Amino acid sequence: MDSSWQTFVTECESCQRCELAATRQHVVVWRGHVPSHLMLIGEGPGAEEDRQGKPFVGRSGQLLDILFTAFGLAENNYHIGNIIKCRPPGNRNPLEEEVQACRPLLERQIQFVKPQVIILLGGVAYKAFTGDQTPISRVRGKFFEQDGYYVMPTFHPAYVLRDNRQRKKLWADIGIARRRLEELGLLEPLSFV
Ligand code: URA
Repeated sequence: MDSSWQTFVTECESCQRCELAATRQHVVVWRGHVPSHLMLIGEGPGAEEDRQGKPFVGRSGQLLDILFTAFGLAENNYHIGNIIKCRPPGNRNPLEEEVQACRPLLERQIQFVKPQVIILLGGVAYKAFTGDQTPISRVRGKFFEQDGYYVMPTFHPAYVLRDNRQRKKLWADIGIARRRLEELGLLEPLSFV
């Protein structure tokens, strides 16, 4: 792993930019690969992520991993991070000042990852990343361009775990993102045998 990426991660791990530093167990920066054509950005660490120091390793992560397997995405095909890197107490939504404090770190992370395609997981990530208040149900599954990236919001896996009727939409959206990567020549199409 590149030493400047490792330096960045080490810097994140000692971050004191907001009050979440006082209550976290771990700073949760990433899993997957650096660099990566595909980056997924969630909201912020939950209890299990805080315990292990990796994003999406709880129930939502298990669902994501099933989707990755189904769509033929190996660990070196994606990078996962979050809007904020420290767990808010009681899993509340991130506060605006926490999102703003973490933003420069997320921007540097994106510069290291160099994704072409970014998937935003859930309404909180969508609003924090774009500043747009439109409900996630109206924007999910559609790509737009921001800062030179193809960005697509979709439902958060935790939402799908709470309301199983929505699972087909999350499934379809990951397929849409995969097809975009294929169209860009960055992934081989899935073979059907
Ligand atoms: N939910 C998130 O948004 N991020 C995680 O890392 C885990 C659960």
